Amino acid sequence: MTAGEVVVEEATEVDDELVSAMAALVPQLSSSAPPPGPGELAAMVGSPASVVLVARRGVAGPIVGTLTLALFRIPTGVQAIIEDVVVDQAARGSGAGAALVEAALARAKAAGARRVDLTSRPDREVANRLYRRLGFEQRRTNVYRFDLEKSAERHPHPAGRLPPEAG
Ligand SMILES: CC(C)(COP(=O)(O)OP(=O)(O)OC[C@H]1O[C@@H](n2cnc3c(N)ncnc32)[C@H](O)[C@@H]1OP(=O)(O)O)[C@@H](O)C(=O)NCCC(=O)NCCS
Repeated sequence: MTAGEVVVEEATEVDDELVSAMAALVPQLSSSAPPPGPGELAAMVGSPASVVLVARRGVAGPIVGTLTLALFRIPTGVQAIIEDVVVDQAARGSGAGAALVEAALARAKAAGARRVDLTSRPDREVANRLYRRLGFEQRRTNVYRFDLEKSAERHPHPAGRLPPEAG
């Protein structure tokens, strides 16, 4: 294995390196979501439902990218969803993104998943091209989102709960 080769591993503990890597990478994915701190990372790493993968340049090299695989049992099978794929700007185009996704597919298969889902905004052109190149096919389905924060502003009562009866 050469020093510059991309190596993907599962994060099994939270250390300063992982916290710093997330602090550098998450803003390159989302301008609104704050990076996870040590507590949030510990929750992710410690849960069987979230597999945190990191890509390094070389076995002991720096973390250059990350991906989280959500993996949990639902009535119809093992659900596997790829989330939050991001590679540091300076390391892009070297196969780290592809290596992360390939590793997630292997991990999902080993866990008994029959398929792996992900969503990606159409304007993320590089990402969409990457997923198609790796064999992802576009599904015909409706993707919905309920915004709990907006809804709380509009309706002070939590979704799904009726306000208490007056009187
Ligand atoms: C999408 C992303 C994870 C891909 O990571 P990556 O390590 O660059 O991925 P790869 O090197 O495996 O492939 C990148 C593609 O860009 C091309 N590329 C070449 N040089 C490049 C460069 N300097 N910068 C970016 N892409 C480059 C690669 O050849 C490859 O093209 P192809 O898929 O048409 O073959 C990365 O661009 C990224 O973090 N983007 C911002 C966050 C994002 O959009 N995440 C996806 C959320 S759904």
